[in-house]
Formats: sequence, C-alpha cells, structure tokens
Amino acid sequence: MSIRKKLEAVKGDITKLAVDAIVNAANTSLLGGGGVDGAIHRAAGPNLVHECRLLGGCKTGDAKITGGYRLPAKYIIHTVGPVWNGGKHNEPALLRSCYAHSFELAQSKGLRSIAFPAISCGIYRYPLEAAVAIALDETVAALRRGGSLERVCFVGFETRVHEAYVRAINALAID
Ligand code: APR
Repeated sequence: MSIRKKLEAVKGDITKLAVDAIVNAANTSLLGGGGVDGAIHRAAGPNLVHECRLLGGCKTGDAKITGGYRLPAKYIIHTVGPVWNGGKHNEPALLRSCYAHSFELAQSKGLRSIAFPAISCGIYRYPLEAAVAIALDETVAALRRGGSLERVCFVGFETRVHEAYVRAINALAID
C-alpha cells in the first residue's frame, strides 16, 4: 500500500476513534490536564491515572504507553510536546522526537493503526502549520522504515487544524 493511502485527516474527537492507539498530548506529570489530555482521561476513566502514576512521569519529547481502558482504542501513547517559546529552544527537535518515539512504541507493539492530535498546538502554542509539517515529515519517515502500521490518522478537533492537515497531506510529494 502506498504511504499516501495510509494517511488520513480526521475531523473530530480523538477519544471516539477505534484505532489501536491514540496519542495523548500530555504533560510531564502524566497525571492529566486540560485539552486533549483532559478529554482522554475523562473518556478512559479513573483507572488510567492509576497506571500513569506507576510510570514516573515523562520527559518532553519522550513517549510512554498505557492501556486504553474505557476508550475504543486499545492503547494510549502519552507524549509530552514542547511549549512554544519562539523556536530557538529546541522546540522543533523536541516535537519531532514526540512523533518518532510514538512511532517506535507503536511499531514495537506491532500496532496497525494510530491517531495523533495536533501535539503542542493548543495550550503549548506551537504554530500550527510548522507543527503539522513536522508531524507529516516524521510520519512519512516512520512509514518508509516499514513496520506494522497501515493507518495514521491526524485528528483535527478544530476546523482550522483539520484543514491544515488536509492541505499538508494533499501537498505531500509522495506516491
Ligand atoms: N480530540 C482531538 N484533539 C483535541 C481534543 C480532542 N478531544 N481536544 C483538544 N484537541 C486538540 C486541540 O484543539 C489542539 O489542536 O489537541 C491539540 C493539542 O492541544 P492541547 O490539548 O492544548 O495540548 P498541547 O498544546 O500539547 O498542551 C499540552 O495541555 O492539556 C494540557 O496536560 C496537558 O499540560 C499539557 C498541555
């Protein structure tokens, strides 16, 4: 299957997606928060935070995996994106690392489908177009390395995010 056929821009709520793993834009405590983190913890139920407590937090740019609990997704990959601070504080490399580590975890589990929110594009204020470009670049690189993934969904909760993903996927110079 071509790489392009594996990519999908989805408008809506990531907690509703029946994929193997959804990715959470978490904070370093992994104990929940607002935005998509709050939505995922609410939908997964109280046992999620009990498992998260055992993980001992997560560094910015790193990723850790838990069960999905009451979610339709089997797993949650929690990753901590960088707070945008003007772009000269290693933010691009840290955001790339979130995607790269999320893919490493998904491939290590032999997952076939994964869904990402726009990591760092909400409370952490990362510029949307730049973040979407990194998301797609890291995704194409991961899919080119082979592995089990057959479907990568980019979830836009807001229309402007969904439209940014649609534009970026359409603009990809791949087969
Ligand atoms: N489904 C999909 N995407 C969502 C959902 C949802 N249910 N809710 C919010 N989003 C989108 C936001 O609209 C934004 O585009 O997720 C993107 C990431 O925004 P945030 O959730 O604010 O995440 P981030 O910018 O990475 O900030 C992380 O926010 O919630 C806290 O604990 C979290 O401290 C951490 C910080």
